[in-house]
Amino acid sequence: MFDKFWKFHRDIPATRVFAYGLSNESATVPGPTIEALRGVHTDVTWENYLPSHHILPWDPTITNAMPSSGGVPTVVHLHGGVHPPFSDGNANSWFTSGFRSTGPTWSSPTSSYPNVQSPGNLWYHDHAMGLTRVNLLTGLLGAYILRDPYLESPLFLPSFPFDLNLMVFDRKFRVDGSIYLNSTGNNPSIHPQWQPEYFGDAIIVNGKVWPRLHVQRRRYRFRILNASNARFFRFFFSNALPFFHIGSDSTYLPKPVKTTGFLLAPSEIADVIVDFSDSPTDSAILLNDAPYPFPSGETVDATNSKVMKFVIERQRSPDESRIPRQLFVFPKPSLQSAVKTRYITMYEYTSPSDQPTHLYLNGKAFEEPVTETPKSGTSEIWYVINLTGDNHPLHIHLAHLAALEQREILELEKFKDCMTRLNDAIKCHVDDHAVGKKDKVAKYERGWKNVFKVKPGFMTTMLVRFELLGPGNTTYPFDATAEPGYVYHCHIVDHEDNAMMRPLKLQP
Ligand code: C2O
Ligand code: CU
Repeated sequence: MFDKFWKFHRDIPATRVFAYGLSNESATVPGPTIEALRGVHTDVTWENYLPSHHILPWDPTITNAMPSSGGVPTVVHLHGGVHPPFSDGNANSWFTSGFRSTGPTWSSPTSSYPNVQSPGNLWYHDHAMGLTRVNLLTGLLGAYILRDPYLESPLFLPSFPFDLNLMVFDRKFRVDGSIYLNSTGNNPSIHPQWQPEYFGDAIIVNGKVWPRLHVQRRRYRFRILNASNARFFRFFFSNALPFFHIGSDSTYLPKPVKTTGFLLAPSEIADVIVDFSDSPTDSAILLNDAPYPFPSGETVDATNSKVMKFVIERQRSPDESRIPRQLFVFPKPSLQSAVKTRYITMYEYTSPSDQPTHLYLNGKAFEEPVTETPKSGTSEIWYVINLTGDNHPLHIHLAHLAALEQREILELEKFKDCMTRLNDAIKCHVDDHAVGKKDKVAKYERGWKNVFKVKPGFMTTMLVRFELLGPGNTTYPFDATAEPGYVYHCHIVDHEDNAMMRPLKLQP
């Protein structure tokens, strides 16, 4: 990682960023895409060339990695990856420039990615304790694609150069080009800097504000990542062109799903095919209409509703790609296969003036002893209860999850009162409360995912597999039960930092 200037827009002066790359000159925002082959192990040695001070304000009152000796701590997590615990980018495995300071669980400069899982879309990003939100805002994120030509080429999906990553995030800039992050918290007497969500008015795709892409009149594959800290996107085209979803997060769907718009939470990935030969117009604008925070907040306006513009050639281009009927067969999520049931509850705590001060999972701080200790190689049912007013994308490291049911919680206030007192879903009779209206899981999300949007006031049932999910592979080629273990957390990174994250330790 390097400290450099990056041009986000012709009319915005160059912005100081932290960027991944092989050298300062070649470092980019987002970082270079790592292309990996299934079955071929990749080792990455991550080096930190960041300065002695952070370029953004951070909050010393939330548990954080910042060492007193200076430097910018960082650690890299490969999101969606199946890899040994020491390579997982644990929030406490951070290191500063030259490894002068390292976190308590840091063990090696080299991360080992076995690439044994099924082909799909991953991404790498910073995960340093209490600093993830500021480190991501500076630009520490990039794509990682795992390919398996043997499995994927018979599908005849659009391929290079018609297979593109679109990494989307929002930022706010000062007139001098620097990234604006409020340096005052919403509860300054408690947390001088922390704000519950970061939102920017400029929408950035692949490092450019509101870009334009010239495309041929044919099919394209877009791997769309929401790399925002807190903004949800509900994408659709100005001319109503449809999307054919072929993957959700890191895994293919069993068969393509057609939509005219879709919701993408922070860290979610939609793998879609768009056929521009169906376009009635010669341009199509990708738009967004998701309120922020989602779903309770402000509606979008002229700036943050626009994402990017596609300029489409008049003449149709030859196109041998296809939208196949079937993609891959994965095991069906079956509740019978689960060996254990857990309740995971999302809480928001507020100050007397009703401003959020912090969020927790199961009412526990990150430092409290681990409570989620699944047996390696098994599946569990997680009932995720959202007692807050907003949607939280829950991400579980290492695991594959399938959302099965979303059920409204009746008499929510009464249930909430009980949960605040007892913090025990069973004693608070969750079975009598989670009996309200059922919300269907969208078809394009009915695959094996690694993050799922947990609706406010609902209980979401998930099947969580702590075993390898990939064609022909059923065991880990490494010890998943070793130290320092994994984590699960809300992927609104402002929530994750304070402190909607808990450890996850697999048992042999
Ligand atoms: Cu994308 Cu724990 O993170
Ligand atoms: Cu959250």
